[in-house]
Amino acid sequence: MEKVLIAPSILSADFGAMRETVLALQEGGADWIHFDVMDGHFVPNLTFGAPMVAALRPHCTLPFDVHLMVEHPERLIPDFVQAGANSITVHAEACVHLHRVVEQIHELGCGAGVALNPHTPLETVRHILPAIDLLLVMTVNPGFGGQAFIELTKPKMVEARRMIEQTAPHVLLQVDGGVSPDNARALVELGAQVLVAGSSVFTAPTPQEGVRALRWALSSQKA
Ligand code: DX5
Ligand code: ZN
Repeated sequence: MEKVLIAPSILSADFGAMRETVLALQEGGADWIHFDVMDGHFVPNLTFGAPMVAALRPHCTLPFDVHLMVEHPERLIPDFVQAGANSITVHAEACVHLHRVVEQIHELGCGAGVALNPHTPLETVRHILPAIDLLLVMTVNPGFGGQAFIELTKPKMVEARRMIEQTAPHVLLQVDGGVSPDNARALVELGAQVLVAGSSVFTAPTPQEGVRALRWALSSQKA
């Protein structure tokens, strides 16, 4: 099995100790840091903006994976690139001109991802898939950490893996929401290559242990 990437979401971390958090995640073996940006319009919650990315950039060498759960993401993309994002994922549901937004991200030198809410058909991304770097299949309804995994999304993951293999094999398949050591291995077997996990990492005794628990669940030693 090729290496599965673990991208802890800092949404569930202690906002009063975020620098220490990303250092702990890096020490624990995380591959990326996942930033859940919410505007209170596209999703009910409001979290943080580009200043959070900029504040953490000097303290962490891991790729910063920014998930924009916002309306009009094209207005914010330059700020997040400037702040140090390595990859920016926008929601197909928030972009009337999705191809133009993906081009904007690439022109600014960043990786481009597209996210789909649980109800959004995979067909939505068929014609843009070859132009992106990452496909994010949401496995909860966006807006909050700590939600239950939506089992209905599993067939969509399998379909996404097949579409990627047939039309855009370079695209990474990321899943986000309700991921834990209990389901991580099954999700990878369904085709996930990047796992976003928030509450399962930050309810562990330490963030390092949270990341290691996911890695152990994925290891071949596990029965
Ligand atoms: C939800 C976010 C997810 C969430 C994951 O809108 O996109 O990244 O923070 O958190 P858990 O792992 O707690 O479901
Ligand atoms: Zn996310």
